Amino acid sequence: MTKNWTTESWKAFEARQLPTYPDQAALSAAEATLSNYPPLVFAGEARDLKTELAQVSAGKAFLLQGGDCAESFADFHPNTIRDTFRVLLQMAVVLTYASKLPVVKVGRMAGQFAKPRSADMETKGDVSLPSYRGDIINDIAFTSASRTPDPERMIRAYSQSAATLNLLRAFAQGGYANLHQVHRWTLDFMGRSPWAEKFQSVADRIGDALDFMAACGINENTVPQLKGTQFFTSHEALLLPYEQALTRQDSLTGDWYDTSAHMLWIGDRTRFEGSAHVEFLRGIGNPIGLKCGPSLDPDALLRMLDILDPNREPGRITLITRYGSDKIEQHLPTLVRAIKREGRPVVWSCDPMHGNVISAANGLKTRPFDRILSEVRSFFAVHRAEGTHGGGIHAEMTGLNVTECTGGAIDITEEGLSARYETQCDPRLNAGQSIELAFLLADMLNQEMKEREQVAA
Ligand code: PEP
Ligand code: CO
Repeated sequence: MTKNWTTESWKAFEARQLPTYPDQAALSAAEATLSNYPPLVFAGEARDLKTELAQVSAGKAFLLQGGDCAESFADFHPNTIRDTFRVLLQMAVVLTYASKLPVVKVGRMAGQFAKPRSADMETKGDVSLPSYRGDIINDIAFTSASRTPDPERMIRAYSQSAATLNLLRAFAQGGYANLHQVHRWTLDFMGRSPWAEKFQSVADRIGDALDFMAACGINENTVPQLKGTQFFTSHEALLLPYEQALTRQDSLTGDWYDTSAHMLWIGDRTRFEGSAHVEFLRGIGNPIGLKCGPSLDPDALLRMLDILDPNREPGRITLITRYGSDKIEQHLPTLVRAIKREGRPVVWSCDPMHGNVISAANGLKTRPFDRILSEVRSFFAVHRAEGTHGGGIHAEMTGLNVTECTGGAIDITEEGLSARYETQCDPRLNAGQSIELAFLLADMLNQEMKEREQVAA
């Protein structure tokens, strides 16, 4: 049991990025309602994910984490969930095939609603209103009523998360994720991309391998794993009243778990010493992610890890670095050396999205695809040089054919951004760009594996 921790001990610490609810009685009522609702995930599943992440930290698996920047009430639709799930599976197939490493699949889905913002207020003309903080808190429309934080939204976010998770579980186990389906997963618009052909050829070779195995008597009846896959959920644990209400004591172990998702992470703006978010997450048994940006001091990180992971449990901590393509080489080696020196068994994951935001000429926020790829290349180069495993990728992406990040094989120009710019918040990779990224990652992992074999030989 964690010392001096309760589900609400965070309230005595500095909580940044939380909304101020004008109606405290409504907040208490929503919290009470949620705390009587069923958990969304089971503690045993969170422990399974931790075991798999421990394999990643040992260099024996790869973490693929991705999904929307922010889920929204308006875009809630089964096809959207299916398309994002499908692209994640396609990416996983490419990665597994190339690296021969198991891929741990974690969605930024079924709960990724709350957003940290750089300014508390947004001003248009002479009107200033509270910033939009995600559909779980307020509404994006620029009116005073819409922007007022409403605790009832937590109930709606819970319901949407429950329905999303239900569909994801059905897809993962009900036959959709069956490896025999890889051909059928091809998306129409990927059909126009040069990467579609490459994906088809991977799919063909997997099909051949499955046929060969079937002839040897290995099929989904003899090996049930072929029928489905394991898929986990995650989100930023930003809105602490919501996370607290879904935190439950596991009847098997007596430990506390945040049952809103399998994995929770702390954002770059809330991972400081003395943070309420750090205090809350130290007490739960789930695997924890920590975003690491340019302002993070390695010694401060080590002190936070003493708090978040005193037992140095493999799989407990994933460090998600997000420096920007122009800063990663300056910051990442120092961090890697500090962690290595302390012998901490972390997962290293690369978020090549959040340090690479720019404003296009038309004022839209975008992320140039070549900067994203460049940060990924540097990430692997640093880990190869330091002798550590570049263990994962964390991406904001969607299965939809959006035009939010410039570049890629179907080159999206700055002028072309407004064609299908649909994000609630930050620009996401579309399906084609996600597959392209997966092939680059596959190359990087392949190189790492080859070098390991050479060292072993
Ligand atoms: C995010 O992942 O959506 C996010 C806000 O990231 P960061 O905390 O790294 O800025
Ligand atoms: Co984001």
